[in-house]
Amino acid sequence: SDPLKLGLAGIGTVGTGLVQLIAARADTLAAKTGRPIEIVAVSARNKRKKRGADVSKMRFVSDPVALANDPEIDVFVELIGGEDGPAKAAVEAALQAGKHVVTANKALLAHHGPALAALAEKNGVALNFEGAVAGGIPVVKAIREGLQGNDITRVFGILNGTCNYILTKMEREGRDFADVLKEAQEQGYAEADPTFDVGGFDTAHKLSLLTSLAFGTKTRFDAVYVEGIETITPTDIEAATDLGYRIKLLGVALRTDSGIEQRVHPTMVPKDTAIANVDGVSNCVAIDGDFVGDVMLIGPGAGGGPTASAVMSDIIDIARGIVLRPFGVKATNLKAYKKAAMRAH
Ligand code: HSE
Repeated sequence: SDPLKLGLAGIGTVGTGLVQLIAARADTLAAKTGRPIEIVAVSARNKRKKRGADVSKMRFVSDPVALANDPEIDVFVELIGGEDGPAKAAVEAALQAGKHVVTANKALLAHHGPALAALAEKNGVALNFEGAVAGGIPVVKAIREGLQGNDITRVFGILNGTCNYILTKMEREGRDFADVLKEAQEQGYAEADPTFDVGGFDTAHKLSLLTSLAFGTKTRFDAVYVEGIETITPTDIEAATDLGYRIKLLGVALRTDSGIEQRVHPTMVPKDTAIANVDGVSNCVAIDGDFVGDVMLIGPGAGGGPTASAVMSDIIDIARGIVLRPFGVKATNLKAYKKAAMRAH
């Protein structure tokens, strides 16, 4: 049958991983979904840059908004990043043009999630973002699909691979912060501006998405208390070790009597717990539901391969004809849902 045609905007670490994945899996993807999946056009800042994937046969469109409006494409894959600017303009254009959108852009959704979700719902298209939270861990699907029958009381975890990598290396190798940060950047884990990682903002972006998925509320990035890891010293880590703890940067969202509480800060966790043993670039997400009990997912939290794996799962859903409400609850009903859920609790 007809191929599913993708337009890919942004060919950095994740975009390169996606091009490699689609090239490697062409046959099995077609068998799984019933239709071939092809990247027909790409957009990037630099056309000729050396990349780990061959994009020379794909049509090059320099303006991502033009790519979003391109009549040949069915799905717009946004891997540009950034809360405003070209990513936002292009995603809006794609949704308005009735095209499905797949994005890994946590900053964009943390700030504009409800409005973009409403636009997707109005146009009857998907706005999928598995790659935006916790890299390769399929946590958006876990909450939006697998755990839908539950009232969720708490969601928390390690949501930034760069910070976890830094904290792990500082502890194991007694190295200092700046040195290990450089290494995380070289591996392609860090954001373009690493302040987003080490300042806790990237964790806060992801947490605000998890909160919305878990509690059916509007994303409220501005309501997250944020503290990063920049001031953690080898001495702090040693002191924690002596007391039987590890320091982890956690994002936590809780349902309380007065509303939803969201916070990001370095936390001492007892050494013998699962969360203390999530090492290196790994992430974990714990979800407590009233019928299921406590669920924990652990896996790679950043990098080209893991994030491409997540992005691919969103594309496969679309190829299979699966279009769900982005946050599980109709975007225009988020307020009413929150009221009802808080009462039920
Ligand atoms: N900079 C992010 C991290 C990338 O380190 O977790 C994945 O979102």
